[in-house]
Amino acid sequence: MEKSMRNLPKTSEPCIMVIFGATGDLTARKLMPALYNLNRENLLPQEFACVGFARREKSNEVFREEMLQGLKEFSRSKPEEDDTWSAFSERLFYHQSPFDQDEGYEALKKMLSDLDAKFGTKGNRIFYLSTQPSYFPVIVEKLKSHKLIYDKNSSGPWSRVIIEKPFGHNLESAIGLQKHITQFLTEDQVYRIDHYLGKETVQNLLVFRFANSIYESLWNNRYIDNIQITVSEELGIGTRGKFFEEAGILRDIVQNHMMQLLSLVAMEPPVSLKATAIRDEKVKVLNAIRPIDLAQFEKQVVRGQYAAGRIEGQTVAGYREEKDVAPTSEVETYVAMKLHIDNWRWFGVPFYLRAGKRLAKRCTEIVVNFKPIPNILFQQASHNNDNNVLAIRIQPNEGIALRINCKVPGTAMPIQPVKMDFRYDAFTGVQPPEAYERLICDAIWGDNTLFIRWDEVLASWTLLTPVLDRWQKDPKPPLDSYTAGSWGPESAANMLMDEGTAWRSI
Ligand code: BG6
Repeated sequence: MEKSMRNLPKTSEPCIMVIFGATGDLTARKLMPALYNLNRENLLPQEFACVGFARREKSNEVFREEMLQGLKEFSRSKPEEDDTWSAFSERLFYHQSPFDQDEGYEALKKMLSDLDAKFGTKGNRIFYLSTQPSYFPVIVEKLKSHKLIYDKNSSGPWSRVIIEKPFGHNLESAIGLQKHITQFLTEDQVYRIDHYLGKETVQNLLVFRFANSIYESLWNNRYIDNIQITVSEELGIGTRGKFFEEAGILRDIVQNHMMQLLSLVAMEPPVSLKATAIRDEKVKVLNAIRPIDLAQFEKQVVRGQYAAGRIEGQTVAGYREEKDVAPTSEVETYVAMKLHIDNWRWFGVPFYLRAGKRLAKRCTEIVVNFKPIPNILFQQASHNNDNNVLAIRIQPNEGIALRINCKVPGTAMPIQPVKMDFRYDAFTGVQPPEAYERLICDAIWGDNTLFIRWDEVLASWTLLTPVLDRWQKDPKPPLDSYTAGSWGPESAANMLMDEGTAWRSI
């Protein structure tokens, strides 16, 4: 039976999770803390084990020690605070092998069946692919040929594969990867992860829109002037120079995280909370986005790259000076774009997207700008661009703020915008779980609602691959420089100014 987001609380089935690429950053920073916290909160099955699979030689003990260091640095609850670490660590194992060698998979199979006997994990498997994307095809192929991925069988043990982003490098490679994996996996065994969907505030978009009657009647082109989505980071590319040189911000953030935010903001109400119903509506939105007009490209898409500047009082290097980055690199660290959704609800409402590294502030926010009031009664209010704005803060300072006009007390009639501000931390008083906690929990539970379906990937690459291609084609559109710590290149501000509007200040 298809699982639904509503079917809570979740009871997880016994299983073993195998993490491919377990010596990488993601495991120590995100995956292990997520597993640890799930375990602390009794959200992992009692019968559970985890195997790290990677190419480097190391013992179980060394692997456990490295994971402990990762938890100390990155976990929301620190392992010193309790004694659950020692019990949990006894369920962690390491397996060394190249990703393409049959013997390594045979040895893994034997190891997993021994762990089944020891921990009662009943043959159920989650394989988490967190290696470089070029290894995804061979891993899936080997898992299948060694019968570690099972044919679908509703009564026997199950196997699921979580695939980290990016799924493909462009439209062609994504189609190639999809063709390859479907030889070995059915769509419901594939969990394409985008960790934004695991964020509490992103899930709250569905609740906010569809559990309140007041917004729905306003949520359309009659009342909304434009919608802005910002994903800005103060961080540069850190130690990920090699990765970023191949990716750029369009592939790293826009193709996945931003397209997901956009589809949740713009989708029609789904008929139920079942995965199929929600994903059907999301993909409809993505398919309704008007293709980028290549004749008007520079009015619709701006790209930039950070130069040296200052962040929080510290001088930081420009992108081209970062480790593993070519001194003449043309990779974009900033993108702004204007999109239109050609359906009845959104026709004529521009969606402005911007994403960048080394910007002034870390902030992910969706801003809904409502149409101005007629310029009849309160001229002052009708000219103020910054009122009648709904800001949904995904992170940090998670919450929702509405700016409305108010009369300043007194005998005259001056008007001033005021902010009604809902803050998550004041509401719950507890630290929300990390995105990966929710998503791993869902994968163990077998609910793929918050994972990306193939047709969503296809739609988003179909939209964005022409942008990537255009950037390669002469004469190349400008790559505008911006100072680290600023709000991006001037051309992005001009793009909106030409439309008579502006990015909302954050
Ligand atoms: C990742 C990107 O998917 O998301 C990173 O690869 C980015 O470049 C990160 O920094 C941002 O995630 P979050 O959860 O900190 O917004």
